[in-house]
This record gives sequence, C-alpha cells and structure tokens, in this order.
Amino acid sequence: MSDARKPADEELPRAHPKVTGEDALPGDPSREEQIARMIRVDQAGEYGAVRIYAGQLAVLRRSGSGEAIRAMAATEREHLQRFDDLVADRGVRPTALQPLWHVAGYALGAATALLGERAAMACTVAVEEVIDRHYADQAERLGDDEADLRGTIEKFRADEIEHKDEALANGAEGAPGYELLTGAVKAGSRLAIWLSTRF
Ligand SMILES: [Fe+2]
Ligand SMILES: [Fe+2]
Repeated sequence: MSDARKPADEELPRAHPKVTGEDALPGDPSREEQIARMIRVDQAGEYGAVRIYAGQLAVLRRSGSGEAIRAMAATEREHLQRFDDLVADRGVRPTALQPLWHVAGYALGAATALLGERAAMACTVAVEEVIDRHYADQAERLGDDEADLRGTIEKFRADEIEHKDEALANGAEGAPGYELLTGAVKAGSRLAIWLSTRF
C-alpha cells in the first residue's frame, strides 16, 4: 500500500494526529468557531440540566426519588462549573438564550415531576439519550489538538449515561404515556441544542 500513499502523507512526521475541523468543507465554520460552538451549547445544556432538576426537586424533594434527583443535580452542577470555566478561559460568547433555558428547564422539570416520579425519570431518560448522542458526536469531531476538552466531554457523557440508567432503574418506563412523553422531551432537547449552538 505504501506506493499508493499520497505525497502529502509523507510530509507528516508521524501517524497523522487528528485535528479538530479537519473534515470541514468550504463554507463550514472555522476550527475556532466549531470549538466555541461546542463550549457554548454544552454550557447551555448543563445549565438547562441544573434547572430541570431544580424544577423536579421543587415538586419531589420529599418523595422517594428525592435522593436520586439530588445526586443527579449535584453532578450537573459540576458539569456546569466546568463549562462556565471553559467559557471564561477561552472567551467564548455564552448563549443569548440563557434566560429562556432558566425558565424552560425549570418548567420542564416541574411539569414532569407533577405528572409523577416515573414521569420525572422518563424526562431524564429522554434528555440523557439526546445528550449521550450529542456528546458522542462532539468527542468524535474533536481532534488530538483538543484532547483535554474531548476527555471532559467523554467523562461527562459517561455521567449522563449513568443518569439515564438510574432513571430507568427508578421506573421511568412505567410512566404513563412514556413513548409520547420521551418523544416530546427529546424533540425539545434537540431544538434547544440547535438553538444554543447558534444563538
Ligand atoms: Fe450534565
Ligand atoms: Fe445528566
């Protein structure tokens, strides 16, 4: 295969490290802009997660699920802190939609909690499924030039998968209208990601 190599490959000093944005097509955002968008949307998402659990806890604080929700909320606060730091350190413009996520996150948490503990858990399953995909996507796009950020995202992704598994263990699938509820929450989460990436 070596004579089939393109000349450009021979100029590289070693087995070609992956660089963020190397697959970019003409007209795609620059490497810097791609990374800024990732940090922006992740900060927004973790902020939304903190607000969802605050809304759930307002309703379910003293329920059997209170403990599990408090533990998830604590992880989300750590995630948010990390992205707050990244936004500050790298001078990323934060999302302009934070006031919306402040209200919408809390409302989603409180509304699902009012439907019951299982519905609150179903909300977590839906959100975390979308975030699992989202973080996997980002980790895939980040190169070795952003190994730290990629490591953070992979770690957080593992935490979110844990949340999902815990919500399933807490009876999420027994929520009335599970498919409808999770479908709606997933659609909303995807829209929030799309919006927070850009605005
Ligand atoms: Fe999180
Ligand atoms: Fe989570």
